[in-house]
Order: sequence, then structure tokens, then C-alpha cells
Amino acid sequence: MTLQLIKKAEEKHSLTKEELVLLLQDNSINEELFSAADRVRKKYMGDEVHLRGIIEFSNKCKQDCLYCGLRASNKNIERYRLMPDEIIDLAKKAVGYGYKTVVMQSGEDAYYTVERLQYIISTLKEFGIAVTLSLGEKTFEEYKAYKEAGADRYLLRIETTDKELYEQLDPGMFHEDRKRCLRDLKTLGYEVGTGSLVGLPGQTIESLADDILFFKEIDADMIGLGPFIPNDDTPLKGAASGDFTMSLKVMALVRLLLPDVNIPATTAMETLNKQGRIIALQSGANIVMPNVTEGDYRKMYALYPGKICVNDTPGHCVQCITGKIKSIGRTVSKSKGSRTKKNTSE
Ligand code: 5AD
Ligand code: FES
Repeated sequence: MTLQLIKKAEEKHSLTKEELVLLLQDNSINEELFSAADRVRKKYMGDEVHLRGIIEFSNKCKQDCLYCGLRASNKNIERYRLMPDEIIDLAKKAVGYGYKTVVMQSGEDAYYTVERLQYIISTLKEFGIAVTLSLGEKTFEEYKAYKEAGADRYLLRIETTDKELYEQLDPGMFHEDRKRCLRDLKTLGYEVGTGSLVGLPGQTIESLADDILFFKEIDADMIGLGPFIPNDDTPLKGAASGDFTMSLKVMALVRLLLPDVNIPATTAMETLNKQGRIIALQSGANIVMPNVTEGDYRKMYALYPGKICVNDTPGHCVQCITGKIKSIGRTVSKSKGSRTKKNTSE
């Protein structure tokens, strides 16, 4: 029965919530699920892997999400903020390493006014790269201003589509606002990335199925999934960790239902499994986002413990990941890897 569902998903790219739940519950079909997602990835996205260099430029955040180490109430973390010209400098180096996309990520830090961001974004665009922002919730006008400065893409995970759970874990934030942001970004013509945490305390299998259907409903262009990893400096320190295999299953199902979207093999997956990113690349993923932040800042951007590559340099990471990608018969893309919609109904 569940094997049939995988076949249906591989051919039709469609499953009901009930069917998704059945597949998420049944662990006897995991290998078939991962192979099917790998075939769909190959058919629609080919063997190229796109690298996105991520600059974690500030760990200051006004929000207080219960799972996140950057939360405002965390007094155990040393805060930093890179100046605009330091960010530009890191981006320049990333271009030198061959990256065609730079992702600028930070906590929700008010220091980066529209003017400062416009300066950074427009300078980065002169390098001929795609610019992705991941700065949290902003107003329509702010998103518009970044777009006009040249930003191409925006990442904002929904984190979970379970409204009650979201509002409990992200105190002071509203699920409706999150969805408004994602809609605004689409309206403004961004390529929109979203995604979820897998294994949050209180999260159900049904809500994971809803997450997958939500990504399809909003026509997301990029979907990042990673296990929740409890952080000792947060109120969720005693909670159970998310499960690597379950994250991989959600990711594989996303590939089956959304065949032509970009899907990263996430850092959090590699934190739970030494081969995590390679396994993800062989189960539906086609993107890796190596860190291009330098020095101690890598450690200080402590969303969760055990983050990989904290003692490595950007130069080392690009070599390392390129080697891993080649070792599984895939290639590193030389293009920007924007999402191109394909006919998925044949
Ligand atoms: N474990 C795993 N991922 C986390 N993130 C935040 N905290 C954690 C954690 N404890 C993820 C969120 C956020 C992204 C930048 O990092 O999904 O959107
Ligand atoms: Fe950073 Fe391998 S990607 S050390």
C-alpha cells in the first residue's frame, strides 16, 4: 500500500494529507522513498549541486523563540555584529571561492536599517551574484526596498504550520504575520525560500504533512528542512532532539510533491549525522549552503549546539564540500541556480 503511494507520488507529484501521514509513519519503506526522491531530483534538477555561501552577519535578535540560541533572553551568548563593509568583504571572498549566490543571514537586528541594507545589497549585486536575504519578518515596504536595491531571494521558514505550536514557541509572534511576510515576498517577485523544523516538542506527524502541503500551496521556490536540536541556553534544553531520518523523510516527500524546487541539504542534518548532507543530496536535495563567515563568529552564531564547521575556514569548507559532491558523482554548478519552473504534469 505505502509502496504504491510512493509510486503515485513519483508519477503524479500529488498526495493527500492522509497519504503523507501514512508514509511518514511507515519506516519500512524509507529506502524506497529516498530512492524515489533521488530519481525525481535527477529527472528535474539534474546532477548539478548549487552552492550558496552564507554570511552570518549578526547574532543579535529582538525575538525570543524558545528553540533558538540567538533568542533575546539568552544571556550566555556573546553578541556580535559585522559592519557593512565587513559583510561586503566576506562576500567578495565568497565570489573568489566561486560562489554564485551569497546568503546574508542574521537575527532580527534593527541596526541594519533599510539604508544600510540597500548599500550592502547594491554593492553585492555589482559582483554579478544572486543575493539572498534571511533577516526575519519585515514590512512590505522594507521588503520592497531590498528588492529595489537588487535582492533576488528571501528565506523565511514558516518553522511549523501548526499555528498554536508556532505561537507557543515564538512568543510575541503571530502565525498570520509569518504568512503575510511570505505572501508579500511572493508579490514582490522574490524567489521565496521557506521550511520547517522537524521534531519540535509537541509537533505531530499530521502537522508535518500540513507543512508539506503548505509549501505546495504557497508555491515556495526553496524549502529547507532540518531537525530541531535542543540548545542548553534555551527553555527547550531538556526536550528530545528531532530525528535525522524523519527530517530526511519530510525532505524526500517535499521533493516528490514539488519536483522542481531547490532543496538544501541542511547543516542541522549534518549535525545529527556525519554524512548528513551527502545522504540528503542522495535523497532529494540539490543545494548546499556552506558557511563563509570567518573566525570566532561561526561559533558565536549558535542557533543550536554541535554546529558543523565552526573551526573551519571558508576556503577549507569550499574544498571539503566540493570533494564530497564529486565523490558521489555529482558536479558543482557554475550557474546561479535560480528556480526555473518545469512542466511537472507529464
Ligand atoms: N535547532 C535546529 N534549527 C534551529 N533553528 C533555530 N533554532 C534551531 C534549533 N535549536 C533554525 C530555524 C531558523 C533557522 C535560521 O535556524 O528554523 O529559521
Ligand atoms: Fe565545512 Fe566540510 S563543509 S569542513
